[in-house]
Amino acid sequence: MIRIETKQLPSALLQYRVWLIGFFQALLIFASLVLAWLLRFDFSLPYRGLLLSAAPLLIVIRLVAIGRFRLLHGWWRYTGVSDVLDILKAIALGSVVFLFVMRFVLRVNAFPKTIYVLEAVLSMGLLAGVRLFSRVLTESARGVAASHKKVMLIGSGMAAQMVIREIKRSQNSYEVVGCVDDDRSKFGIKIQGVPVIGSVDQLPALLAARRVDEILIAVPSATGTQMQRFVEVCEQTGAKFKTVPELRDIITGQKSIREFRDVRLEDLLGREPVEIDLEAVREKIAGRVALVTGAAGSIGSELCRQILEYGPAGLVCLDQSETGIFFLQQELSKFRGSSQIIFCVADVGDQERLRKVFAEHSPEIVFHAAAYKHVPVMERNVQVALKNNVFALLNLLEIAERGGCESFVVISSDKAVNPTSIMGATKRIGELIIGCRPTNGMRCVSVRFGNVLGSHGSVVPVFQEQLRTGQTLTITHPEIKRFFMTGPEAVSLVLQAFAIGNHRDILVLDMGEPVRIRDLARTLIRLSGKSEREVGITFTGLREGEKLTEELFYETEEIHPTPFEKIKRTRSPLHGWSLLQRHLAELRISMCVDGAEAVRRKIKEIVPGYSYQSEDFPKEHASRSAPAILEHTAGRR
Ligand SMILES: NC(=O)c1ccc[n+]([C@@H]2O[C@H](COP(=O)([O-])OP(=O)(O)OC[C@H]3O[C@@H](n4cnc5c(N)ncnc54)[C@H](O)[C@@H]3O)[C@@H](O)[C@H]2O)c1
Repeated sequence: MIRIETKQLPSALLQYRVWLIGFFQALLIFASLVLAWLLRFDFSLPYRGLLLSAAPLLIVIRLVAIGRFRLLHGWWRYTGVSDVLDILKAIALGSVVFLFVMRFVLRVNAFPKTIYVLEAVLSMGLLAGVRLFSRVLTESARGVAASHKKVMLIGSGMAAQMVIREIKRSQNSYEVVGCVDDDRSKFGIKIQGVPVIGSVDQLPALLAARRVDEILIAVPSATGTQMQRFVEVCEQTGAKFKTVPELRDIITGQKSIREFRDVRLEDLLGREPVEIDLEAVREKIAGRVALVTGAAGSIGSELCRQILEYGPAGLVCLDQSETGIFFLQQELSKFRGSSQIIFCVADVGDQERLRKVFAEHSPEIVFHAAAYKHVPVMERNVQVALKNNVFALLNLLEIAERGGCESFVVISSDKAVNPTSIMGATKRIGELIIGCRPTNGMRCVSVRFGNVLGSHGSVVPVFQEQLRTGQTLTITHPEIKRFFMTGPEAVSLVLQAFAIGNHRDILVLDMGEPVRIRDLARTLIRLSGKSEREVGITFTGLREGEKLTEELFYETEEIHPTPFEKIKRTRSPLHGWSLLQRHLAELRISMCVDGAEAVRRKIKEIVPGYSYQSEDFPKEHASRSAPAILEHTAGRR
């Protein structure tokens, strides 16, 4: 049971403490005056009447000045340079006022001039001295070695209490000196003996007044926005900062609260916890065999990890990368139910191999995450992109259907919307295939979303590597923006979308506001503890096929809500499968006999929204006025 000491300290008691501290300081001021008198008059006390009549006035003036500089609080054990400076200012102010009142208001000219100076020096010494003495005494009484890291906590909730308790229990090299919290009702209370001394915004001022080596953000449930604010405040203090593990990891026991770590980009961009109807997903997965293509990739591997939590009868992890499958096998072998995992090295385009895999394991659900995804690379490998992202998908669909598969999920991308790249165009063709290919009852859905933070070859690992090796960060364009989501968040939503999707749906994940890559780079630089001036950012120009901003929907798409706020439902335009089939057949021939330019033209017939840098004419943007063989028939439904 966690104990909060002096929880909700009654305000009367707090008031009483202020009075007590005020009274003690009044005694010190009086002592300074008497001592000054003794020093001035060779250790005798003449003119006692004058001394005793001036004393109350001096004490009142000094206490008002002290109160004005907020020195009536009792956290003397944390006294720092700025407290001493405040005492100096309060003494100077008090002396000026006292002198003015004595000489010009009361006209007491008999008051010895040297006493004004002596008393001020002695009061300064005593008021600062008791504070510093209190700090030394507390620290030595606690046996706190100077080597101990002094830590300030952001947050004073359950996590903060756990942190303080753990630090005390383990007697490690940390000492928690205070907590800050936005909940003002907690100010003044003590948590496990540690005072809540102010709000998060007051942190820079509080740290200027006391030695703190590190700040620990003890709010594991903080949203991305809250985390951004905490980090900004921490940066203002100049102190190092860390955070506690994620709530999920603490709850499941995977991490101990004491495993403090650096703040990661995901903490800042992570949004509210994803709400998932676990039971609905479990109902669709438990006891069934699922197959994940591209299982060794960023999204595929996360899919495998999450699917295993829902108790499938079997999980077939399929990827063409043998090394990737090797590492996946190593990782998943630690999971519960790992005996039901089958690892297949296979190319989705290899019909014979796929047939065997389906015959052997009879998957009932397919998550198709295998694809080529690097935009500039695919621009130079048009045929390969089509072969892998379009024709391998067709292959897989046919085999899955024949194998009696119940559900088929294709991972699409925001690059499929008004694509400017071959990669995006292939993804759009994938959506069109899912949208109009008739099936014998197999439920087919596409899930469309933007960038996944930290996925293979994505911007974050590239920046991290550049930072690690001391290179300048390279960004293609100062204004380039992308939607971002963490891998676990995106995949949780993919599973939810799979559970609720109807045949032919495109389920689009709400990615929040797009993030400017330049801001992302700056945040990463800050998190690395360096400054933008030290690291530098250079702009290299947009690459082939790259857009400044991505979109999540076509203008013609109707957006329907789902019971899950972060998942929207839309559909590909309704058009005939036979027409699309004919185009795909022509595309296949074009791929074999024509060059990239002709293939691109053919793609544009299928995806009129596709615009590309033509070799024959300037960049096409007349996409919607071009002969729209398929999509222009759609209109709004
Ligand atoms: N990563 C992102 O930011 C992101 C965002 C939205 C959509 N997507 C889409 O998600 C999918 C997966 O992306 P990722 O980031 O995991 O990519 P990734 O490159 O990390 O993984 C793709 C995996 O697919 C495998 N693969 C490719 N072709 C294959 C084939 N023919 N047969 C078998 N395996 C094959 C690769 O070996 C690789 O392991 C892609 O379709 C991508 O467009 C990715």
